[in-house]
Amino acid sequence: MKKIMCVFGTRPEAIKMAPVVKAIEQNEHLQSIVTVTAQHREMLDQVLQLFGITPDYDLNLMKKNQTLTDITAGVLHGLEEILQKEQPDLVLVHGDTTTTFAATLAAFYQQIPVGHVEAGLRSGNLYSPYPEEANRKLTGVMAALHFSPTPEARNNLLRESADDEKIFVTGNTVIDALLTTVHAHYQFADAALQQLLDSPGKKVLITAHRRENQGAPMMHIFQAVRRLHETLPEVQFIFPIHKNPKVRELAAQILGDLERVHIIEPLDYEPFANAMSKVDLILTDSGGLQEEAPALGKPVLVLRDTTERPEAVTAGTVELVGTDEELIYQTALKLLTDADAYGKMANAVNPYGDGKACGRITAAIEYYFGIRDQRPENWV
Ligand code: UD1
Ligand code: UDP
Repeated sequence: MKKIMCVFGTRPEAIKMAPVVKAIEQNEHLQSIVTVTAQHREMLDQVLQLFGITPDYDLNLMKKNQTLTDITAGVLHGLEEILQKEQPDLVLVHGDTTTTFAATLAAFYQQIPVGHVEAGLRSGNLYSPYPEEANRKLTGVMAALHFSPTPEARNNLLRESADDEKIFVTGNTVIDALLTTVHAHYQFADAALQQLLDSPGKKVLITAHRRENQGAPMMHIFQAVRRLHETLPEVQFIFPIHKNPKVRELAAQILGDLERVHIIEPLDYEPFANAMSKVDLILTDSGGLQEEAPALGKPVLVLRDTTERPEAVTAGTVELVGTDEELIYQTALKLLTDADAYGKMANAVNPYGDGKACGRITAAIEYYFGIRDQRPENWV
């Protein structure tokens, strides 16, 4: 048995690694160990609970208003002893958070190979998203295996001279998670949310948290929502707000008094994903939502200047609007009032995966360790 340690710390990493952990648990040649850094606490725990994952190790790092240095130093110190004790054959990390980068560095210091899930995404701008673009590049430099979600991500790695033999195009594991979570007749445990989603009139789902958007850009985003609320009296705005106190203060200040802007606690992944499938439009600066919403046929306006996920932009269901108040307002207004414009964007496309990414990842790990002879085929 090869010992595989998955390390993750935030909500999106947990959602996208949960099906990987399950696939490892079910594989007779692999032993699963789960270490969480708890860079996030509540938002991580709800995902662990939903997927029934009990971590073997929990660094319990989160502090209010933590800095990047706090997280990086905490992960490095916390993982050293665990890695020395467990001596895993492979560490798996996900994506681009500070947990991802610091866990990779900690494993590298122990000369333990790292497999990078969701490898090769690039915006081309080191400061946008910040610090994620640097995190994923640095992780890629140290990784022994790259699990790229799309052919485009593989090409990004090849452009940086990564070894093609070490790149496996698998699809994104978020689609594996989504397909087991969204159901046509899902009933929300929260009656108020069920009622809101069943009510007549259009619904807009909002999420915002990016570090580079905090301050003036986020103010412009919220001002645009305020204006949309004024112009469109039938539309409901649902805003499950990130736990970050900086985001909360600004949202309360600009949107707190509006009747149809429902600022609610972050939703657990199951109700959130099902809510996504029921709304009309999504405004977000999230990475994960750019992958999930297209699979559900929901138009997305991305509140960022760059994206490392261009595939859905090309497919036409995602539009990059940045953080300019007027552009957000005008673009959302058109989509909510012009059926033709809306129809052009509301197509279900799946550029990010087919729900079988985790099987390809475990097959690639088996191939890497010589447990299987045949290299798994790249997903296209
Ligand atoms: C982090 C990741 C980002 C990812 C995002 C997903 C880094 C640098 N950033 O950003 O890449 O897109 O997670 O959401 O790795 N908090 C709580 N409870 C929680 C979670 C957060 O109270 O469950 C609060 C804490 O005060 C914490 C703050 O939010 O200090 C910020 O959390 P942090 O992980 O530093 O940044 P995120 O914006 O969440
Ligand atoms: N999500 C959730 N509850 C919420 C908001 C988002 O479960 O209230 C999920 C969402 O479906 C996606 C992930 O969290 O899978 C995205 O996380 P986030 O936006 O925090 O991070 P990012 O994707 O930008 O790294």
